[in-house]
Amino acid sequence: MRFDQRHLLGIESLRPDEITTLLDLADRYATLNRSRQKRSGILSGLTQINMFFENSTRTQASFELAGKRLGADVMSMAMGASSIKKGETLIDTALTLNAMHPDLLVVRHPNSGAVDLLAQKVNCAVVNAGDGRHEHPTQALLDALTIRRAKGRLHRLTVAICGDIAHSRVARSNLLLLHKMENRVRLVGPPTLMPAGIEDFGVEVYHDMEEGLRDADVVMMLRLQRERMDGGFIPSEREYFYRYGLDAEKLSVAKPDAIVMHPGPMNRGVEIDGTIADDINRSVIQEQVEMGVAVRMAALDLLARNLRARPTELTA
Ligand code: NCD
Repeated sequence: MRFDQRHLLGIESLRPDEITTLLDLADRYATLNRSRQKRSGILSGLTQINMFFENSTRTQASFELAGKRLGADVMSMAMGASSIKKGETLIDTALTLNAMHPDLLVVRHPNSGAVDLLAQKVNCAVVNAGDGRHEHPTQALLDALTIRRAKGRLHRLTVAICGDIAHSRVARSNLLLLHKMENRVRLVGPPTLMPAGIEDFGVEVYHDMEEGLRDADVVMMLRLQRERMDGGFIPSEREYFYRYGLDAEKLSVAKPDAIVMHPGPMNRGVEIDGTIADDINRSVIQEQVEMGVAVRMAALDLLARNLRARPTELTA
């Protein structure tokens, strides 16, 4: 087992063996989470601070639960009520919190690159819980674990990632991870929601759902990220659903045992039909949420082990 990272800022800097180490550990935490006694004391005595500068349901709740189940003292800052509102910069806020000696800082921020910048200014381990359109590493890892458990492997699968690719950090982290683990990645969506030059990432690009989904093992749907759009990227939601919304008919060209995923929050009737999302024979959306806690426990655990290997730096 090797995991040499000081921070978890993105999938880009992870080696395939580090991804496997993390997923193997997360599998063990998934078992713990299904038992009655869910507590481990592995982070006992450590302090975890969550700073979410953007709305979040799943990610924030699961990081909080993950830290608590491992015995850390967890504080979730209400960033809307913090001094950021009084004009304090991100870095000043981080330095203030850093002076309180946290061991783990979990950060979500609307600006791409903000979490990397912050990691350079503090002397604790930093986890990126999503930065702008850039990366969302724990989402890609929880998706990978969900795929591995459903398909029995995480290589040589055909994965179709569909919808608003251009604004999605989930798509970016997922394609980096799936590519590193030697899967075939297809991006499916309208040209207006496809980032320029994306073919250079070694992916196949489709603008038609039937072509993109044909014989896929995994169909991953994405939300239309309206908060990141500064104009009209689609004609209308109805039209979008008609062409790109996942329903039984569009799914029928994928492999008969293809699984359906969505990171949430879902917009039913826009990118996905409600009956597909709720179909327990196809949809693994609830498993994704379950694996989210396990993957975040594994990430916090591995980062904390690396902290202990650097005691002088921490107490400096
Ligand atoms: C995603 C995010 O915040 O990037 N959600 C999540 O973390 N589960 C995707 C989204 O907001 O659509």
